[in-house]
Amino acid sequence: MKLWSGRFAAATDRRVDDFHSSIAFDSRLYRYDIRGSQAHARALARAGIITGEEAKAIIEGLEGLLMDIEAGKVEFSKEAEDIHMNIEALLTARIGTAGAKLHTARSRNDQVALDTRMYLRHELGVIESLLAGLQTACLELAGRAGMAVMPGYTHLQPAQPILFAHHLLAYVEMLQRDRERLADCFKRVNVCPLGSGALAGVPYPLDRQAVAKELGFAGITRNSLDAVSDRDYILEFMAAAAIMMMHISRLCEDVVLWATAEFGFVELDDAFSTGSSIMPQKKNPDVAELARGKSGRVFGHLLGLLSVMKGLPLAYNKDMQEDKEALFDTVDTCKAVLTIMAPMISTLQVNRERMEKACRRGFLTATDLADYLVRKGLPFRKAHELTGRVVRKCIEQNKTLEELTLPEWQELLPMVDEEVLRAVTLHGATAARKLPGGTAPETVAAAVAEARKTVLIRLVPDHD
Ligand code: ARG
Repeated sequence: MKLWSGRFAAATDRRVDDFHSSIAFDSRLYRYDIRGSQAHARALARAGIITGEEAKAIIEGLEGLLMDIEAGKVEFSKEAEDIHMNIEALLTARIGTAGAKLHTARSRNDQVALDTRMYLRHELGVIESLLAGLQTACLELAGRAGMAVMPGYTHLQPAQPILFAHHLLAYVEMLQRDRERLADCFKRVNVCPLGSGALAGVPYPLDRQAVAKELGFAGITRNSLDAVSDRDYILEFMAAAAIMMMHISRLCEDVVLWATAEFGFVELDDAFSTGSSIMPQKKNPDVAELARGKSGRVFGHLLGLLSVMKGLPLAYNKDMQEDKEALFDTVDTCKAVLTIMAPMISTLQVNRERMEKACRRGFLTATDLADYLVRKGLPFRKAHELTGRVVRKCIEQNKTLEELTLPEWQELLPMVDEEVLRAVTLHGATAARKLPGGTAPETVAAAVAEARKTVLIRLVPDHD
């Protein structure tokens, strides 16, 4: 029998149960539903709505149910619709009348908001720590790569030499912003909606602050209508997750590119690459590709839920049940991707010879020649033009800038002295960029040391 069957003369069509039941996916909220219900029972007793005995029976009954669920001894039912009514029905079957009093001063509308907030609060901490793990993997790789120099690109055309470690530090920055976004999102997740009831608040003197405190929330929601119709906290997480997955997708793209025969900057560890069923020679970056591909579904969930929410009148509408699978899949996907990315990155083999060889093509230090000419007193625009001509000459003669001898230089540019020979070396070019944020070896080493400390500072508190 349905918990709400009183008003109905006939039973629900089986096809309706099939269609609208959410227990198949929201059962994963059972722990939060139980913890929230226990706190609610205490609040009911404190307000004199139920007796201390009844509260005790509810709290203990729920504890027993929790243990049985975790031991795999409980079967949920589709007829009971969702996790909230399943728990309530199971409890009442066990303890009788006291169980039937639990839903006083509460609605599934504030309950589901509570459960998903508690769930997300926990998962934000898990995801943040996995992000720290990926940052650590990037820093490990940067440490192993040492002073290895690679071409930096714009438009995927060789641009200027950079340290490979500098490139990795760029990802550490992106992932740090992702962590900050999760921490910011946490502030709006960690607010307790209990007491909002179905939409208008409840006509009982519940101490909302005390319930919030007991459940570890920083505060309570301020408007009952908003509290039950708000899914911003889920959307914000999904938006942060989408940006995070975009970053990971770019990192994966770099790995895929670097691991090609043409680039050969890195080699994937055997344990983190895969073979081909037909081509015996292949070693494929499937992990990086699949992680890159997973970003698509995370973006999709964000847009899906925005679309669900955009036309909804206040307050709760059943459409909002669609938030759950999207939220859960976003969480699962982020965790799975971050978990595999960290060891895939930290086990990469760096081929510094290949990187350096790639730096010998493409006139990566042409800007440094222009900068050298600026030091000799030329306006930058003029220096740029003269450098362009030198590059053109070198292309005609099939030479690199580093191969030119001093007499050859002086024939092209009468004002240069032997300092030009160093200015156009890879080392000269990287070493010159020692201002904060630049790619000079000592700047990068200091940035790595700094990042090693920063990544250890947790921004999202752990919650069960
Ligand atoms: N299973 C529902 C959901 O996920 C719980 C809230 C149901 N509330 C209601 N009034 N039908 O959204």
